[in-house]
Amino acid sequence: NYYAILMAGGVGSRFWPVSTTDFPKQFHDMLGTGETLIQKTFSRLSQLIPKENILILTNESYNDIILEQLPQVKQDQIILEPAMRNTAPCILYASLKIKKQNPEAVMVVAPSDHWIEDEVQFVSNLQNAFNFCEMQDTLMTLGILPTFPNTGYGYIEFDKLDSRPIKKVVQFREKPDYATARKFVQSRNYLWNAGIFIWSVQSILKAFEKYQPEMYAQFMNGYDAYNTPSEKEYIRENYPNAENISIDYAVMENAQNVYVQPATFDWNDLGTWGSLYDKLPKDEQENAVVNASVFLENASNNIIRTEGKKLVVIDGLKDFIVVDKNDVLLIYPKSKEQDIKAVVAKLKKD
Ligand code: GDD
Ligand code: MG
Repeated sequence: NYYAILMAGGVGSRFWPVSTTDFPKQFHDMLGTGETLIQKTFSRLSQLIPKENILILTNESYNDIILEQLPQVKQDQIILEPAMRNTAPCILYASLKIKKQNPEAVMVVAPSDHWIEDEVQFVSNLQNAFNFCEMQDTLMTLGILPTFPNTGYGYIEFDKLDSRPIKKVVQFREKPDYATARKFVQSRNYLWNAGIFIWSVQSILKAFEKYQPEMYAQFMNGYDAYNTPSEKEYIRENYPNAENISIDYAVMENAQNVYVQPATFDWNDLGTWGSLYDKLPKDEQENAVVNASVFLENASNNIIRTEGKKLVVIDGLKDFIVVDKNDVLLIYPKSKEQDIKAVVAKLKKD
């Protein structure tokens, strides 16, 4: 009865120039281990979930990349979205398909581009969550101990008096402003949302029906079509009309039956070059070097990456991102890594 929805539709523009709209970060070997992020995620999930029950949700344009990188996946496991509508519509769509296959399914919804090294702990946390969701009508998330007021994450307030390993959630708040995030981190009974959700197909559909009745009705109108030849047509026509909203705002902030399991593995969502730098092995001067040979003098705390082992010679550089990719060379201060997204948008416009 175990299923997974692997979300692989993001574009990862903060990792430009390696990550591009044509070839986003989940399809790259960001860590220099020989495997791409989606390959790593797929093998992590398949330790608990039958391979044929792992569905991959993505934009139409990435279909061929997925078939190439995950040869064990069949075409009907790849669910193609005709338009980017964020995570709520795609989770609803996939859940209805899963329900057709198995109304008793319990499933995990997981991003395809995160760093999780301790697979044993990950699988054990997932198993606990599956057991919990099989027994009750609940929406579960995995929580991470916060270390700073990151405003890009969801925050989960749990019941302080609840000493059980899976705790009742008091409040789910997506992307609070900085002052609120700081208050949350200080108060010590908040966790970051890892973006990994576990629930039964019945529970999530019930939640959509309750909190997103319009979207639910829109997709239910075509319910007879799912897993039939007319599906493609129905989706092509109706999917682009769905509201553009994430599961966090659409469901998690509203639901009353949310539970959190504090994760017992280290987690990093590899959102920026800096977060990747943190996870890479470093030399004595704390430089992280991927796919490059280097000759460095007075260079420290840099992340350096080329395609195909180009020789990089640097003297006098600290805390920079140096990335060489085809016809682009990026040299950018790590402290301004968040701005790369805006730079990419501006370059596209010009
Ligand atoms: N298939 C598909 N279609 N996938 C999508 C789409 C879409 O339209 N939009 C986003 N995704 C994928 C992304 O590739 C990513 O793997 C995942 O869904 C989450 O989307 P993000 O855009 O990265 O969300 P976020 O980082 O702003 O916030 C989420 O993740 C945080 C942790 O990394 C939230 O769940 C936060 O609460 C959470 O803290
Ligand atoms: Mg993210």
